[in-house]
Amino acid sequence: MVQPTLTEVKFSNGAKIPVELHKVRVVQKLHLKPVDERLAAMAAGGYNTFQLNTRDIFLDMLTDSGTNAMSDNQVSSMLHADDAYAGSQSFYRMEKAVQHVFGKKWVLPVHQGRAAENIISQAFISKGHVIPMNYHFTTTMAHMELNGGKVFEIYTDEALKIKSDNQFKGNIDINKLQALIDQYGPERIPFIRMEASTNLIGGQPFSIQNMREVRAIADKYGIMVVLDASLIGENAWFIKKREEEFKNQSIHDILLTMCDLAQLVYFSSRKVSSTRGGGIATNDESIFLKMRDLVVLYEGFTTYGGISVREIEAMAVGLYETMDETVISQSPSFIEYTVNELDSLGVPVIMPAGALGCHIDARGFLPHLPQSEYPAGALAAALFIVSGIRGMERGTISSVRDENGNDILADVELLRLAFPRRVFTLSQTMFVIDRVHWLYKNRELIGGLRFVDEPKVLRFFNGKLEPTSDWPQKLVAKFKEDFGNSL
Ligand SMILES: Cc1ncc(COP(=O)(O)O)c(C=O)c1O
Repeated sequence: MVQPTLTEVKFSNGAKIPVELHKVRVVQKLHLKPVDERLAAMAAGGYNTFQLNTRDIFLDMLTDSGTNAMSDNQVSSMLHADDAYAGSQSFYRMEKAVQHVFGKKWVLPVHQGRAAENIISQAFISKGHVIPMNYHFTTTMAHMELNGGKVFEIYTDEALKIKSDNQFKGNIDINKLQALIDQYGPERIPFIRMEASTNLIGGQPFSIQNMREVRAIADKYGIMVVLDASLIGENAWFIKKREEEFKNQSIHDILLTMCDLAQLVYFSSRKVSSTRGGGIATNDESIFLKMRDLVVLYEGFTTYGGISVREIEAMAVGLYETMDETVISQSPSFIEYTVNELDSLGVPVIMPAGALGCHIDARGFLPHLPQSEYPAGALAAALFIVSGIRGMERGTISSVRDENGNDILADVELLRLAFPRRVFTLSQTMFVIDRVHWLYKNRELIGGLRFVDEPKVLRFFNGKLEPTSDWPQKLVAKFKEDFGNSL
């Protein structure tokens, strides 16, 4: 039976509303605290949304990582987990799922996506290596650089445009790839990395056409292609919707085609299968053997890889569910709805809508703030204060400093409002749209931030900042003027 998809449920009045094709059976109570308490929580958290306690949060849109809703089948599968240090049946069920869904024979479990990045970087990268990719991810780049590699982002000219009609802003620019190989020589390139639904540029997908072109060049020079499949389900969904050749293919066929174009596939299960954990998979035994002993050293034995066997069971079920269009289209459908509504209200958002979340362009939102005052971070703090919604800064705070201690300004300054799969309802989504719109109308009240405590590595996680003026108090005063005692 062909399953209907969210976008295909029509309303008689023509409205485009994403209908949930699931029902909610386990719920968690949320708290929407008064605005003064939200301001106090934000100040205590050093104006960094990573530092908030969920006790103070209404809608947690920080990430989809480890926060997607699990299905009834996933939860029930955890009950028959097989506790064993070695040879657990849970692992063999997960291995079978990876083999079936991704078409890769050799499977290594790891505790999450960055653990896979550590293993792959240690196995294949050494000093002087360069690694071309569509765009970096924070932990990916950190591991590659730690092992002596340098990352080159060879995205197309469309990739960083906030508003574009390009359906595949995650594509690699083939000319830039060729130029990089000519410049450094294939022997200095251990692999080319393609990230599905490119996270840091707005969850933008690549096309299979592009991946085929990348693979053809890689084969010509004997370079391996590595696929970061953490958000592969959504990328496959966009391929089905946007790439003519695949419109009648099943998601499973698209997943297999994508994975077949890479010699090595790795993933964060926190995203792809709505669980915890991660994995690495390949059809090449020699590639597998280069990594196997590192997994034992850093993660745990090769049949659990630092993951609880209960999660491994749920991972297996979650991977099969990645082939279900109603599962993988849920988050993109809600994102598309939010993006279109905000765009119609004049709020600058990344278009076309991508995977993972609605991405607000903080530079367009706050043109009066220089990047050195961290507009995306300031916007994240302001939105939390006026709504209890926690988003994530994906801009210069998430970047690094150069050797002279100056900020390397991010290419794009984004506030990401993640839509974990099947977590938020439409009325909550409408609340998000309303509060972002209100904030946009009062945007001139938002000021900048500066660091008061700045970690040397991945500073966005644990860094503390302060406002450059008393703008948060002024924002609260305006909120009270407009909303009175309402939350
Ligand atoms: C594309 C991509 N790769 C890798 C990772 C790292 O995965 P994890 O958070 O499980 O370590 C993430 C996490 O968000 C990601 O989005």
